[in-house]
Amino acid sequence: MKLTYYGQACFGTEIKGKKILFDPALSANPLAKDIDINSLEADYILLTHGHGDHVADVESIAQRTGATIISNYEIVTYYGEKGFKGHPLNHGGKWNFDFGTVKYVNAIHSSVLPDGTYGGNPGGFVIWNDDICFYHAGDTALTWDMKLIPMTCPKLDFAILPVGDNFTMGYEDAVIAAEFIDCEKIVGCHFDSFGYIEIDHNKAKQAFENKDKRLILPTIGDAVPSF
Ligand code: NI
Ligand code: MN
Repeated sequence: MKLTYYGQACFGTEIKGKKILFDPALSANPLAKDIDINSLEADYILLTHGHGDHVADVESIAQRTGATIISNYEIVTYYGEKGFKGHPLNHGGKWNFDFGTVKYVNAIHSSVLPDGTYGGNPGGFVIWNDDICFYHAGDTALTWDMKLIPMTCPKLDFAILPVGDNFTMGYEDAVIAAEFIDCEKIVGCHFDSFGYIEIDHNKAKQAFENKDKRLILPTIGDAVPSF
């Protein structure tokens, strides 16, 4: 499975022939300025919550690609009123799409859309099919609810967790999150994009190694190693 990092919480992948894009907001991220947003393909755009650093490019990409937006009810309704296709979920609910099952799970954070519209409660996604199972946590604190994921979903092959601190959990708490979700391979996100969330990469990786886990800090525009 190829997973490409586009900065902050944005990742692109292809599952069973369908292009999936998470939280596209390259235009809100100076570190992603060299990526051509018009080159991104999407059959589905998955949105964890409504903040600008997660949704800034949704409309331009959905307009160009005709992608279906998958998010919580409030965010899908918001884009639906603008004419975009969507599938609403809410916490604890899952749906079988043509690329796999998507479950919307709890996150502890906030959610408002850039124009001030209520963005519902923030979440993360667990996605699985016969080949793969992974979790994109979105923006979240460490939460006890993460323990529900291995109880209710297949074994995770990897997880995308925020590690930048200040607005989300930092890497120290993300190590505990990796234990809660019973996952050895973690891809970090939501780090370095601006001053509040710059991290020491070596210290972050060492914190995971100390617990026999692996943290990958991906490079913007590149495929995440070993995926
Ligand atoms: Ni956020
Ligand atoms: Mn964010």
